[in-house]
Amino acid sequence: MARFYITTPIYYVNDAPHVGHAYCTVNADALARWHRQRGDETYFLTGTDEHGQKVADAAAANGVSPQEWTDRYSARFRAAWDDLDIAYDDYIRTTEDRHATTVQKFLGAIYDNGYIYKGSYRGLYCVSCEDYYTAEALHEGNCPVHGRPAVEMEEENWFFRLSAFEDKLLEWYGAHPQATTPDTKRNEAVAFIRGGLRDISITRRSLTWGVRVPWDSDQVFYVWYDALVNYLTAIGYGTDDAKLATWWPSVHHLIGKEIIRFHCVWWPAMCMAAGIEPPQHVHVHGWLLVGGQKLSKTMAGEGAVRLTDIAPQSLTAEYGVDPVRYYLLRDTPLGTDGDFSLEGIISRYNTDLANNLGNLVARVATVVGSKCGGVSPASRDDSPLRIESAAAVTTAAAAWEDFAPHAALEATWRLIGATNAYLEQHAPWKMEPGPEVAAVMGDALEALRIITLLIVPAMPSTAREIWRRLGLTGDVHDVGWEATSWGGFPVGVSVTKGEPLFPRISSDS
Ligand code: ME8
Ligand code: MG
Repeated sequence: MARFYITTPIYYVNDAPHVGHAYCTVNADALARWHRQRGDETYFLTGTDEHGQKVADAAAANGVSPQEWTDRYSARFRAAWDDLDIAYDDYIRTTEDRHATTVQKFLGAIYDNGYIYKGSYRGLYCVSCEDYYTAEALHEGNCPVHGRPAVEMEEENWFFRLSAFEDKLLEWYGAHPQATTPDTKRNEAVAFIRGGLRDISITRRSLTWGVRVPWDSDQVFYVWYDALVNYLTAIGYGTDDAKLATWWPSVHHLIGKEIIRFHCVWWPAMCMAAGIEPPQHVHVHGWLLVGGQKLSKTMAGEGAVRLTDIAPQSLTAEYGVDPVRYYLLRDTPLGTDGDFSLEGIISRYNTDLANNLGNLVARVATVVGSKCGGVSPASRDDSPLRIESAAAVTTAAAAWEDFAPHAALEATWRLIGATNAYLEQHAPWKMEPGPEVAAVMGDALEALRIITLLIVPAMPSTAREIWRRLGLTGDVHDVGWEATSWGGFPVGVSVTKGEPLFPRISSDS
């Protein structure tokens, strides 16, 4: 059986969850759901990154202890994910004991292998990035990501001999060109390595909010050096060898483009230094941006808002969980930047959900009710929708496999469009009850059954509701991908009509 271990970055708890975080987490969740549906043994990890200067500063500025602060914010992320129907298998917090245990063992192995030495660090640091910069990389002394001044840092601490891994990393990427996707992002990582790697300072004397360095009680690990290890903590590095062997190195890290260097340069080098295989795959996505346009008054008050001000729960409260998931999955391919807007959500909602999917469900149930006695007729083996369905299933499977949820949904909506067109062409609502209408509606029901299976990873509750209305038994989430082949709709099942799934929303609200 295939295995699929997928991770999101662990989110910093200096800030509240926003729609950019939701973008990554919803995509990871849909990918995990698809792999489960396909029958893969699947493990989906997310969580929070709770150490470091930035979090310690946020707690101090708010007059609470770092532990109290991180408890509060980690819970906010968890609540946001529960609201968005994120089915994670594990939620890791870097302040947990299990994490300290794994960090100390993993970094202890790197130390024992001779890749850590004592030195003195002097350089420029951005606390918002928790990252080092060379003077040339700054924009007039400011961090290129946050635009805030980088600060001069000087400390005696411990260094990781990253420079020893230049050739090994280049060899690794030569032998595993798909280790980072898309290719443009792999090229970025490789160019960085080719540019020469400098050793990195991996501990802090000036900070106590972190994982203790086992061989030097005066220091804690630098936050990134502890954070990356979370991917091993969750699967039992140093505590459960069998679990580790099950999930490592067949991992897929889904990350944003500003943390490529950590995941595609440092992290594989750290794994090599500790004597384990580097992660099999990192997939890099872009950023959702707000183009400065005016957002809905009810959502955000007058004027433009920053994306980081948009709480995922404010969107799900307004538009529903599945429509927000659908928008995040469908609108911005994983790998490019995208424009986030409420107009975009409303347009996807009205067009794709209300007019296409919702309308199809309503029509099918109505006509089966009025012309077929509310009971499912048989589908035909030679239906033209059979070919359309097979094409959608094949394209969607390849797209999910390829980290392209938007393309899987695009293929699904082509089938929805084809099914609506088929109904319009035959206009069964104008026919007398009889074999002709039964044939058309049998085909439409079968196509809708397959569509329902295709939307499971993206819209879990909607899929459940349509399945129920179609009179199909069991939980659609327990039905495997193999059931997407044509001809599975049982004859004689009661189909029920319900409220509109996606009542249209007016765009000038
Ligand atoms: O970097 N659009 O955490 P973080 C899309 N703790 N993605 C966005 C986004 C946007 N507008 N804004 C942020 C960290 N993100 C570390 C990770 S992993 C071992 C440690 C994404 O909370 C961003 O690209 O700053 C990144 O992948 C993720 O949110 C976490 O950001
Ligand atoms: Mg960040």
